[in-house]
Amino acid sequence: MTNFKVFLVFSFIANHAFFTKVDCEKSLVPALYVFGDSGFDNGNNNNLNTIAKVNTYPYGIDFNNQSTGRFTNGKTYADLIAIKLRLPLPPPYLGLSGSEGYQVTTGINYASGACGILNDSRVGECLSLDKQIEYFTSSVTNDLPKLFGRKDYMRQHLSKSIYLIGIGSNDYSLNYFKNESMKPEEFADYLIEQLSRKIKTLYDLGARKFIVGSVNQLGCSPRVFCNETMNQIVKPYSEKLQTKTQHLQKQLSGSIFISINSFNFFNEIKNAPKKYGFTNISKPCYEEGITLCANRKEYYFWDKHGHTSEAALKIYADDSFSGSKLCFPMNIEKLALSDLR
Ligand SMILES: *[C@@H]1O[C@H](CO)[C@@H](O)[C@H](O)[C@H]1NC(C)=O
Ligand SMILES: *[C@@H]1O[C@H](CO)[C@@H](O)[C@H](O)[C@H]1NC(C)=O
Ligand SMILES: *[C@@H]1O[C@H](CO)[C@@H](O)[C@H](O)[C@H]1NC(C)=O
Ligand SMILES: *[C@@H]1O[C@H](CO)[C@@H](O)[C@H](O)[C@H]1NC(C)=O
Ligand SMILES: *[C@@H]1O[C@H](CO)[C@@H](O)[C@H](O)[C@H]1NC(C)=O
Repeated sequence: MTNFKVFLVFSFIANHAFFTKVDCEKSLVPALYVFGDSGFDNGNNNNLNTIAKVNTYPYGIDFNNQSTGRFTNGKTYADLIAIKLRLPLPPPYLGLSGSEGYQVTTGINYASGACGILNDSRVGECLSLDKQIEYFTSSVTNDLPKLFGRKDYMRQHLSKSIYLIGIGSNDYSLNYFKNESMKPEEFADYLIEQLSRKIKTLYDLGARKFIVGSVNQLGCSPRVFCNETMNQIVKPYSEKLQTKTQHLQKQLSGSIFISINSFNFFNEIKNAPKKYGFTNISKPCYEEGITLCANRKEYYFWDKHGHTSEAALKIYADDSFSGSKLCFPMNIEKLALSDLR
């Protein structure tokens, strides 16, 4: 009898441990598909003819000291979100060989540095948002069907997966600010209209769960900290994006949209840098030929081009995933767990 009891207890613990383990390893969504600029690029530009390429030390110093093409010292925001969703890091589309392309079911990264929503926002060769979506279309029409066989399995995969889009900064820095040919409000409307059209293409391909990033305070780059005139020009974009994504959700049946307002959140970091562990938020950690800081966790900016440090990206990832300040109308965890309407 005693032995039997012992066995029961043991068996309960074993089962419990087994199920807990399985549960922990199970991803929250089937895949994370990533679209964007240097904020998310994890190696696509390594394969392109451009000066916007960072496959050299010390980029990646905190990514096992490997310069993968990520524009920061460690993981990108997209990497950090993938980890929180318990997914592998989505590989760069241009880094996949033909045969690998249709073996990846957990998401792909199409982001490309120095590129934008508009095709003429660019430096040299890069993947504009249209080009990124063209490659995603190829994944959906050529690669994924080989893995899923049945059409409804693929449709489920696409509708439950998350689409992370972070692009628009270069439409200001490499385009609008060179020219200022429209009023700021008009340009924001125009950009968001273009972005919406491209998002509809993703929806038509089967995407339903969207995360759309705004443009940060571009007036606060390490070189000019902070040009409030520039910030005021960029600001309408974040405000309009929040409204537009909610319109899209109403318009596109079964879709769920969240927007990330990094513009507003950055005020918090600016007002209380020490609270977030930063000693100086205007100075970059790394300046080519000049310095590489000793403690990378103390710096908001990683390089002089305004790319953020992994420490800063972790703050954004933590709050947008499970907090309440950055994302509207819900955080990423809630988006991941929500049933499709
Ligand atoms: C990191 O990589 C650089 C460049 O390849 C090398 O010089 C350095 O010694 C490496 N650091 C460590 C800690 O391995
Ligand atoms: C986008 O710009 C590139 C480089 O200027 C050009 O080669 C390409 O044709 C453009 N694509 C479209 C669709 O306009
Ligand atoms: C300047 O503005 C025009 C008209 O809006 C636009 O077509 C062009 O691409 C812009 N030029 C640059 C260098 O951004
Ligand atoms: C701030 O940005 C505005 C808009 O681009 C520009 O006209 C102005 O010269 C900048 N001011 C400084 C101090 O750089
Ligand atoms: C941050 O660093 C910059 C550049 O070295 C310097 O001008 C500024 O005074 C520093 N700010 C603080 C708060 O230490």
